[in-house]
Amino acid sequence: MSDVQTPVKSTLTVTVDNITIEVAPGTTVLQAARIIGGDVTPPAMCYYSKLEGSGGKCRTCLVEISAGSAKDPRPMPKLQASCRTSVMDGMVVKNITSDKVPDARAGVVEFLLMNHPLDCPICDQAGECHLQDLGYEHGNAGTRFEFPRRTFEKEDIGPNISLHMNRCILCYRCTYVADQITNTRCHGVLDRGDHAQISTLISKAIDNDFSGNMIDVCPVGALTDRTFRFKNRVWFTKPVSAHRDCDKCCGEVTLWYRGDDVLRVTARKDQWGEVENSTKDGKTGWICNTCRFDKKDTKDWTIEGPMKVSRHSVISQGHYMKMVKGAETFTKVMGGRDPKILMHIHDVSDVNPEK
Ligand code: SF4
Ligand code: FES
Repeated sequence: MSDVQTPVKSTLTVTVDNITIEVAPGTTVLQAARIIGGDVTPPAMCYYSKLEGSGGKCRTCLVEISAGSAKDPRPMPKLQASCRTSVMDGMVVKNITSDKVPDARAGVVEFLLMNHPLDCPICDQAGECHLQDLGYEHGNAGTRFEFPRRTFEKEDIGPNISLHMNRCILCYRCTYVADQITNTRCHGVLDRGDHAQISTLISKAIDNDFSGNMIDVCPVGALTDRTFRFKNRVWFTKPVSAHRDCDKCCGEVTLWYRGDDVLRVTARKDQWGEVENSTKDGKTGWICNTCRFDKKDTKDWTIEGPMKVSRHSVISQGHYMKMVKGAETFTKVMGGRDPKILMHIHDVSDVNPEK
């Protein structure tokens, strides 16, 4: 037997959709794809990088592994959950270049929507719901499900959070928040299989200081903010970054304005829809319930400026950060004369009178 040991490599090479990068050992395929970014990144409904143990529940992040590693380049026989598969040196992954993945993902979306009500028009999560986005991208126009959908009564868990279990996809993210971010875990997944549901034990109120973060991690509209419920559609609001000195949390938030009113306060989210790290200490910027539910006045906050919204998001519709007006050519084409106003609207209409 040889005494010579193979040196452990400090970086591993992985190729995702024909783009090759080096990553640290222990990186998952999903994290590697996120490093590349853009379209090659698989969707993730249950994985949340800031919550330990998350992932492996929803199967939306399935990818094809066409070569397992440089040492053993055989393809993996089944599609793999990218959030739970570690990169091997020389691994070749296909996401958008795979023939099998779109079909499989469409099947997963069909399963996720099996019991999920199609109530986007009245759901507060509409416009920022990951399942809605997935449904548009991979879903079918109709359903093949012929049985009655499972339904639950709406439940208020604590004074500020509403649980609409019909919409829950059992991603477990909120239970990890309860477990890891708050100090009083009192809700979780009860029962199994088709009977599984998120609930507080005997409807015990969730009243600890960080429980509101469950709303931010919920990828669908199952957990919603009762102080914002039915107040507005998210795409009519204007998100603004702001901060305050808070003795419980980082105090760095997004304020969602309609006119001069702060309708909602949330943690700041990154491009993957996850809570961003705080600029103060680099730790996850979870916010406390005081900042989230009790500070709805502009004077409570120091405003930093408009939040950057992806131009693909429906939330960016109607927000013009900087309007560039076209050059006025009227005077020029009129040979230097100013246009003559032929009629003043208020002379002929009483609607919206001048003040
Ligand atoms: S309530 Fe939301 S966060 Fe909690 S398991 Fe259901 S879908 Fe996931
Ligand atoms: S994100 Fe990978 S299984 Fe849900």
